Amino acid sequence: MITTAVVPAAGMGTRMLPATKAVPKELLPVMERPALQFIVDEAVDAGVDHLVIVTSRAKPAIEHYFARDAEAEVALTRLGRHDMVERLSRFGSDVRVSFVFQDQPLGLGHAVGCARDAVGDQPFFVMLPDELMADSSLLVALSEVHGSTGVGAIAVKRMPRAELSRYGVLDPVGDEREVSGCKAIPFVGVVEKPAIDAAPSDLAIIGRYALTPDIFDDLARLRPGNTGELQLTDALASQASRAPLWGVLSDIGRRDIGNPLGWLQAVVEAGLAHPELGDAFRDWLNEI
Ligand code: G1P
Repeated sequence: MITTAVVPAAGMGTRMLPATKAVPKELLPVMERPALQFIVDEAVDAGVDHLVIVTSRAKPAIEHYFARDAEAEVALTRLGRHDMVERLSRFGSDVRVSFVFQDQPLGLGHAVGCARDAVGDQPFFVMLPDELMADSSLLVALSEVHGSTGVGAIAVKRMPRAELSRYGVLDPVGDEREVSGCKAIPFVGVVEKPAIDAAPSDLAIIGRYALTPDIFDDLARLRPGNTGELQLTDALASQASRAPLWGVLSDIGRRDIGNPLGWLQAVVEAGLAHPELGDAFRDWLNEI
């Protein structure tokens, strides 16, 4: 079972400016929960007990969010939000939160590499906080496929060709098959944000990874890729070229909240699903 998750959260959030000028994009609210809390809940529900947040010294609010706050807990208790009090009070007790700093924006590969000492010599998840998932089932599937294959397992979704150039895209070898009850496909390469006619498949990486610690050596050897940044995708490509890794196919409900439309969709969905406000919000939407 994988119990450590790395969450890269040092980016500047340029697509959500000016909101992200003073508030880190990971703390923008989706209803009353900051986006980062969805990531934490997904991780904890999948059995994670150590979160490694890769942040920047320019975003102290992220560390502040994880500090125990007795007053906030009293206020939440008064509002009847006992589940949230319980979740927040676990930080620092049964869920350990470590912070590592990425002070230069050198890319996702560099961010994950910064977590090396905090992770140690064990398999770990990487969770990109721009992508919110409906539940923790995808992490559980990645952990199971990693458990039975012993190598890295990466969440992917089949996407229309026109969308592939926004993602890392797998170069599969062999056919889709069942591994530990999950649909999976082995791959020997992966290309970051390919031109539409250069995509090796329609299997796009959707922001959840179960990785083995030898990836840190590949990360340390990275040179800037075609985007000028150190790409996690390029480290995966060199690891997969030695022995195939696994793509785990998923149709899980997901939202890319790193762009204004995706964020709005996530807020509307959370509003409709809200236990107290959902019905009133639905009526109002129908009205307008
Ligand atoms: C990152 C990864 C990419 C992946 C995507 C998923 O890209 O580099 O391989 O497909 O996340 O959201 P970004 O969206 O940060 O540019």
